[in-house]
Amino acid sequence: MNILVTGGAGFIGSNHVRHLLGTSDDRVVNLDLLTYAGNLENLAGLEDHPRYRFVRGDVRDAALVRGLLEEERIDAIVHFAAESHVDRSLDAPAAFLDTNTRGTLVLLEAARDRELGCFVMVSTDEVYGSLAPDAPGFTEETPLAPNSPYAASKASADLLCRAFHHTFGLDVRITRCSNNYGPYQFPEKLIPLMLANALEDQPLPVYGDGQQVRDWLHVSDHCRAVDLVLREGRPGEVYNVGGRNEWANLDLVKLLLAKLGKPESLIRFVTDRPGHDRRYAIVADKIREELGWEPAYTFETGLEATVRWYLEHRAWWETIRSGAYRDYYETMYGEKGRYGDRA
Ligand code: NAD
Ligand code: DAU
Repeated sequence: MNILVTGGAGFIGSNHVRHLLGTSDDRVVNLDLLTYAGNLENLAGLEDHPRYRFVRGDVRDAALVRGLLEEERIDAIVHFAAESHVDRSLDAPAAFLDTNTRGTLVLLEAARDRELGCFVMVSTDEVYGSLAPDAPGFTEETPLAPNSPYAASKASADLLCRAFHHTFGLDVRITRCSNNYGPYQFPEKLIPLMLANALEDQPLPVYGDGQQVRDWLHVSDHCRAVDLVLREGRPGEVYNVGGRNEWANLDLVKLLLAKLGKPESLIRFVTDRPGHDRRYAIVADKIREELGWEPAYTFETGLEATVRWYLEHRAWWETIRSGAYRDYYETMYGEKGRYGDRA
């Protein structure tokens, strides 16, 4: 197959490109705009791979997308490209709608016109909204109730995919995964941010009471699930992906500190994220039963490997944190920032 991966220079996309090249004979064309979150360092060593091509470009550029589908005789699209950080979507929602929703529409229209074999939409569990502490987890039948501009933009894209399958018969398959962790995650997200701050003996900003719950899955288990859906999933179906691995943020932050041998006194409780979803939990029975997917990592093995990766790749995250990201961090966490100290 010739596979177009969008957003392949980001966290999950770059892990997915490596997964595809390492486990299949497929040709991979990676279309990525290289926004602040896209980083070619994430793909170091693949530059000269005979089955790989990187194209810097925008998924909203219809001419570029159509040209690539034609020129590369693309059989399938795996769509990761997105603005992915909830906090940023609170301050600049328009960029989220534009990239996540309109960008997906551009890809869907190009795929429909070319009668593409398969379109895998990498959606998210955030489209389901928030769960009460004791409620059962999200299933594929849970109604969509997105709460942040990010989640709303992803839900809109997710529903456009459904419509293109229903109306035009396009072979679209949707995955909705819980929180990922692992190598190459941009250090604005909880786990890499906390690891980097702890290693630099800087405060660890915990939003609100820190009792929000997330369901964590190692990124390589997510990539295997997405690939399985591409190869063995059914057209028009939605597949939840998650690790049955719920952690309150505060407990997770304390665990990370313990792993690094750093004191809990580094924790700072800061103003809560507006509209903060209290809990996510995924029921992944469908992909387990239909496609035989199982996570390969336990949280223990996955987190151990991840902590080691950030320890061994200090230059990777230090470079990111020394650039424009520093201004973002000041805007968010500085004294007058959105998440300024509550004290
Ligand atoms: P990320 O922010 O690390 O990477 C996003 C990538 O998309 C970057 O390389 C960026 O340059 C690229 N991009 C952004 N706008 C683009 C555009 N207009 N055209 C082309 N490329 C563009 O994100 P991530 O955490 O790797 O998430 C990838 C996908 O997985 C997203 O769609 C996200 O919604 C979804 N998802 C993420 C998680 C998670 O825990 N991170 C969980 C479930 C689903
Ligand atoms: O559930 C899937 C989603 O997971 C993906 O769709 C998103 O792209 C991805 O960013 C992630 O969203 P979250 O908002 O859950 O992830 P984040 O790492 O931003 O935050 C995780 C939790 O930690 C959340 O409850 C907010 C909290 N948090 C986060 C940061 C960055 C803090 O308490 N302090 C922080 O500094």
